[in-house]
Amino acid sequence: MSEPSIHLLRSVVLGVGSALPQRVVTNADLEKQVDTSDDWIVQRTGIRQRHIAGPGETTSTLGTAAARAALANAGVEAETIDLIIVATSTPDFTFPATATQIQAALGVTQGVAFDLQAVCSGFVFAVTTADKFLRSGSHKRALVIGAETFSRLLNWEDRTTCVLFGDGAGAIVLEAQPASPEERGVIATSLRSDGRHREKLYVDGGPSTTGTVGHLKMIGKDVFRHAVGQVTGVMTDCFAAAGVDATTLDWFVPHQANRRIIEASAEKLGIPLEKVVLTVDRHGNTSAASIPLALAAAVADGRIKKGQTVMIEAVGGGFTWGAAIIRW
Ligand code: ACO
Repeated sequence: MSEPSIHLLRSVVLGVGSALPQRVVTNADLEKQVDTSDDWIVQRTGIRQRHIAGPGETTSTLGTAAARAALANAGVEAETIDLIIVATSTPDFTFPATATQIQAALGVTQGVAFDLQAVCSGFVFAVTTADKFLRSGSHKRALVIGAETFSRLLNWEDRTTCVLFGDGAGAIVLEAQPASPEERGVIATSLRSDGRHREKLYVDGGPSTTGTVGHLKMIGKDVFRHAVGQVTGVMTDCFAAAGVDATTLDWFVPHQANRRIIEASAEKLGIPLEKVVLTVDRHGNTSAASIPLALAAAVADGRIKKGQTVMIEAVGGGFTWGAAIIRW
């Protein structure tokens, strides 16, 4: 009996792209708004600036621009896409899904488009979901987008949260291809959630409770502890499944929440800092958009090359957390 097709197909990356709002807000700009300092923000987080959406810039406009950039990088037309997954916690509207708005903006009339919400882990969850669709043989070519406008969830008078986040979007094009000897594609994924941690990172509003959008609330120290303490489990799961370890990994592209969390996680796993892609200094924490923004930056500057082994990893509200290994 022949093996089921799930073992014969791989989700291969064809292209990557990103988009950022025009306006850059530096730490010096924030010093004029709240009682903070460039020194405090850089020392605690590594963030120097972030992009903040202006009038007319929304999650769907940023997501559409990132999708167009990824399609151009892949050299494929929008109408060949039959699956669009948008990871976001900041949709343009409660409904319809941001994914269907992006689908329409791209002129795609076939296939399926939906949103996925796992906060900062959203992109890892979306890649994992797309991979399962593609390897099942049900869909052929996917756009996986992380797009956020967290600036619109922030209390701009709360210095403990407003300095941490930024807006942006990133996207990859994945295609189902027969497994090749080079083993290109998504080769391992591992996801986790534990809803008991809700109070540590949440938004205090929503359509079914307050009828408002609400503001982001966070117990920073608890998030930090969880991020460094528990996330390594999903990474070691991926290492084991892919037959890879910290020494054979080419690039580690973690969620860009905080430089100290990233450095502590890398150190715990024995991943040298030269292999870590860092964009948190330029973008701040863009939640589900941070990993594809970092991937796009590292592909554009020539660091990530075809055939290399890349690990993505994130922790987010819920808590949710996950990792994936992709042979580029
Ligand atoms: N500027 C100046 N001072 C500040 C600021 C600020 N922006 N924010 C807080 N402080 C003050 C506090 O009021 C406190 O003052 P006090 O000692 O007089 O009470 C002092 O700085 C220390 O505050 P802590 O909260 O203890 O600072 P900590 O060292 O824990 O750093 C931080 C805070 C950066 C948020 C840290 O806890 C952290 O990185 N947590 C992870 C959270 C994170 O990255 N979340 C992102 C979302 S989740 C995700 O994406 C994984």
